[in-house]
Amino acid sequence: MRSAMFLSGAALALGLMAPTLASAQDAAAGERLFNQCRACHQVGETARNGVGPVLNGLFAGRKAGTWAGYTYSDAYKSLDKTWNEDNFRIYIKDPRGVTPGTKMVYAGMKDDAQITNLIAFLKQYAADGKRTQ
Ligand code: HEC
Repeated sequence: MRSAMFLSGAALALGLMAPTLASAQDAAAGERLFNQCRACHQVGETARNGVGPVLNGLFAGRKAGTWAGYTYSDAYKSLDKTWNEDNFRIYIKDPRGVTPGTKMVYAGMKDDAQITNLIAFLKQYAADGKRTQ
């Protein structure tokens, strides 16, 4: 009886740990994928707008086309969109198809697993650029 309880306790502990480990791995893979974005985008506490806007706080209720100090294209200025994982997935596969007239020149990330990892990486950054994980 005791050993059965111990086993289920251990299984529970492993079950709780698994998502944390998985997302840490995803984020590490996502960080490498973010190299495809770095020419134009920065994240983190010292991030600055460049060719593209800072990407902090992207999944924290951020409205598209509104990062302070960045000059967006007309296509972006007229968007009425709040970023979330679902619309980001669609966008990043084909930015110019989803938002005609955007000045984001990026062919797209097509692989769903890669996009999942990229999201895990970006999600770590709060709007002030601090890492939340
Ligand atoms: C060659 C430069 C370039 C690359 C590479 C690039 N972007 Fe962009 N991105 C831009 C520009 C420029 C904009 C602003 C779009 C506009 O105003 O039309 C933008 C906008 C965005 C936005 C919208 C931000 C907002 O404030 O609404 C997201 C999200 C984004 N990019 C994500 C990415 C990700 C993720 C990658 C890498 C997989 C990437 N971009 C690669 C140039 C780039």
